Amino acid sequence: MRILVTGGAGYIGSHTCVELLARGDAVTVIDNLSNSREESLRRVEGLTGREVDFHRVDLLDRPGLDRVMAIAQPESVIHFAGLKAVGESVREPLRYHQNNVAGTLHLVEAMAAIGCRRLVFSSSATVYGHGAPPLREAAPLGATNPYGKTKWIIEEICRDLAASDPAWRIALLRYFNPVGAHPSGQIGEDPQGLPNNLMPYVLQVAVGRLPHLNVFGTDWPTPDGTGIRDYLHVVDLARGHLAAVDHLDRLAGCVAINLGTGRGTSVLELVSGVERASGKRVPWQPSSRRSGDVAVSFADPTLAKELLGWTAELGLDAMCSDAWRWQVGNPRGFAAAP
Ligand code: NAD
Ligand code: UFG
Repeated sequence: MRILVTGGAGYIGSHTCVELLARGDAVTVIDNLSNSREESLRRVEGLTGREVDFHRVDLLDRPGLDRVMAIAQPESVIHFAGLKAVGESVREPLRYHQNNVAGTLHLVEAMAAIGCRRLVFSSSATVYGHGAPPLREAAPLGATNPYGKTKWIIEEICRDLAASDPAWRIALLRYFNPVGAHPSGQIGEDPQGLPNNLMPYVLQVAVGRLPHLNVFGTDWPTPDGTGIRDYLHVVDLARGHLAAVDHLDRLAGCVAINLGTGRGTSVLELVSGVERASGKRVPWQPSSRRSGDVAVSFADPTLAKELLGWTAELGLDAMCSDAWRWQVGNPRGFAAAP
């Protein structure tokens, strides 16, 4: 299949490109490299022995987007491109709405212009706001920050679009907490500056770049007092996208689907996992709760199994050891690459 991947140079996009190329799909990537480096795609090519048709284009550049669409003539689009830092979105809401929402409007218009109406979109569990786990797709939506609101708004746009024209087939994939890296250690998450999320922070402590982890709350109503999340191996997540693309024709219009393991892991359990995988100690200090956090969040992944035949296969140890292999082989991410 000919597949256009927006944001394909990024963390989840690059892992998905590996899986697509490995099974023989033709992959075109659009990315403005605002949060990634072309080196990730060079490594994708090295891992698969296949070429990526890469275009450095911004989704806000509609003529540029139209040019790539016309050449690539994709049968399906997987749309990862977007800004994703919650704190930054609170400080710069217009930039988030412009980039994520307006960028998506451009994308679906450019798709319609060439007659492509098969879309897989990166949504997020953040659209459940403070909902109670296990989170099912029918749970009420309620994003609490501008980043989450862009995901919710884009979901609504996709639902309206599919209702207006039954030719559209759209899978809204609500990811829980993607972590880990390709088992080769060649590609992985490469946060710029101080990591916001737990796994990259813990890895940088383990590798000695940061002195200790601040644990945001040790008094949550959980067995060890720390927050519980549904961590999901990025390779499992990438494979979920292939399953979604393959099942688009069988989905009715626009469907939201959770991608998670259905299992909760606490902050301290994840710290222990990284300690086991790395053989390093991860010093940590209790710190106050982070504003907006919830105690526990995990998916009900039943629908993904029913509709896509997809379930997560890789456990916490694989997440931690693959993430560690990437971190130790690339302590400064892709920046140090020639
Ligand atoms: P990432 O930042 O590594 O990848 C996103 C890519 O999109 C980057 O390569 C960036 O350069 C590109 N991009 C951003 N704006 C663009 C634009 N206007 N035009 C062209 N390219 C643009 O992020 P990721 O972790 O791989 O996330 C991918 C998607 O999944 C995002 O939409 C994100 O919101 C969503 N998501 C991520 C997580 C997570 O924890 N990583 C969780 C839920 C949902
Ligand atoms: N945590 C710490 N210390 C840190 C970072 C995180 O204790 O330095 C804790 C958090 O309080 C939380 C857990 O680790 O209990 C996980 O935090 P993350 O920031 O890694 O993940 P979140 O579940 O808070 O949020 C992430 C993304 C959101 C997305 C959500 C659901 O940041 O954008 O997953 O997909 F919406």
